[in-house]
Amino acid sequence: MDNVVKTRILVVDDEPHMTRMLLRLFRQIPEAKVESCLSGEEALEKLPSFSPDVVITDIKMAGIDGLILLRKIKEFDHTISVILITGYGTIEMAVQALKDGAYDFIQKPFDSDHILHVVQRAIERTTLLRENKRLRTEVAGCARERLGIIGESPAIKRVLEIVERVAPTDATVLIRGESGTGKELIARAIHRLSNRRDKKMITVNCPAVPEHILESELFGYVKGAFTGATTNHDGLFKEAHGSTIFLDEIGDISLSVQTKLLRVLQEKEIRPLGSTKTIAIDVRVIASTNQDLEEKMAKGDFRDDLFYRLNVITIYVPPLRERKEDILPLALYFLHKYSEKYEKEGLNFSSEALDYLVNRSWKGNVRELQNAVRRAVLLCQGKVITPEDFSERLEPLQVDHFNLYLGKPYTQAKKELIQSFSRRYVEELLLQTGGNVTQAARLAGLERQAFQRLMRQLQIKSRNFRKE
Ligand SMILES: Nc1ncnc2c1ncn2[C@@H]1O[C@H](COP(=O)(O)OP(=O)(O)OP(=O)(O)O)[C@@H](O)[C@H]1O
Ligand SMILES: [Mg+2]
Repeated sequence: MDNVVKTRILVVDDEPHMTRMLLRLFRQIPEAKVESCLSGEEALEKLPSFSPDVVITDIKMAGIDGLILLRKIKEFDHTISVILITGYGTIEMAVQALKDGAYDFIQKPFDSDHILHVVQRAIERTTLLRENKRLRTEVAGCARERLGIIGESPAIKRVLEIVERVAPTDATVLIRGESGTGKELIARAIHRLSNRRDKKMITVNCPAVPEHILESELFGYVKGAFTGATTNHDGLFKEAHGSTIFLDEIGDISLSVQTKLLRVLQEKEIRPLGSTKTIAIDVRVIASTNQDLEEKMAKGDFRDDLFYRLNVITIYVPPLRERKEDILPLALYFLHKYSEKYEKEGLNFSSEALDYLVNRSWKGNVRELQNAVRRAVLLCQGKVITPEDFSERLEPLQVDHFNLYLGKPYTQAKKELIQSFSRRYVEELLLQTGGNVTQAARLAGLERQAFQRLMRQLQIKSRNFRKE
């Protein structure tokens, strides 16, 4: 009958007639399983196996009394509701116990209806608390999966904890870390976990915008602000109103843009170029850098006051070599992703390949690992990826490979060698050109059609080589 049990109630009292009476009373509650103990010690022992929702305990008992038991239960599982039974002279203690987290107390002599009512409410409370706890961990798990942030290391878990904590606030966040560590991914995660998630995050790749244009791109301009400004133009800050703006690689922006940015952060308003009017904006700012801003400040290349405004919360994403535990989960994740994408299912790493991955220094961090796995998946000929598949050099004529050819008739060996050479040659050029067939053909000194014919023969698809 255990499968219909919905609640578990534990009764603790050193007087057997009391426990018997309470047992009888609580057994009236439908779908409840009730058990009793005659001491605090016995109750503690029972906790893990019985896993009660509600504990009703006498205060006065020899050994572990009701108050100590309460504390121990709370340490074990704070969702368990504890109800204390008080007799004459223990009311004050019971009041103290409420402060220690007891759910309620009931006085002897009892009124059965009243006890039943209190217990029912306690059951509801525990159910609610547990449901909430379950949902929260579930949502956190799902959220992480949805955000696509992979990692088992304590370092990345800490990063994710901060992300989850700061996401719902409007605090400015500065994300620091070497190139390829996942700064942009983290910025996206913050936006997606924030209340602004329904609006698109605006990303500004600062170094990619010419210095003299960055200002008008960010803050906009009005007609006539400069020659060529023939209409009003909204800036990216205005576009990001109600959303998040991600200022990617902020380290090199000019001092003049820094000054304007500081104003926006302080005043929460922008003034388009050539305009006398300011516009109030509601934008959450996330910035990133892989640079040593302290050094830049010391040289006078970065404003201290802007730094402190940006630096309200700093998330430091450690380089991959400082969180080696993440390498294998990431490698397997990328293996799965790319073998699916390139229709090369059933691929695996050899143990040497795994060893190689864990011990490479990954100066380009996750991005480099991702590219290496992608490349290996694309170039791998069999089902097993070996360390050679990560090699950047073209080595079709290695001696051990050559031995294989020596075991075959000349014409067949030659055909196979040429085929394997051609495959590698074509794939390498496509990788270099990001899948641009015209460009690859030019590098090969072939007509586009001839190169395409070769690709067809070898069953190589250009779309697999496009940059991401
Ligand atoms: N923890 C991770 N889980 C899954 N993918 C990751 C993780 N970290 C980084 N990546 C992937 O690695 C690549 C680089 O990440 P991202 O662009 O966020 O890094 P970055 O620090 O902004 O790098 P850069 O300095 O090159 O701009 C992206 O394709 C990203 O999806
Ligand atoms: Mg980046």
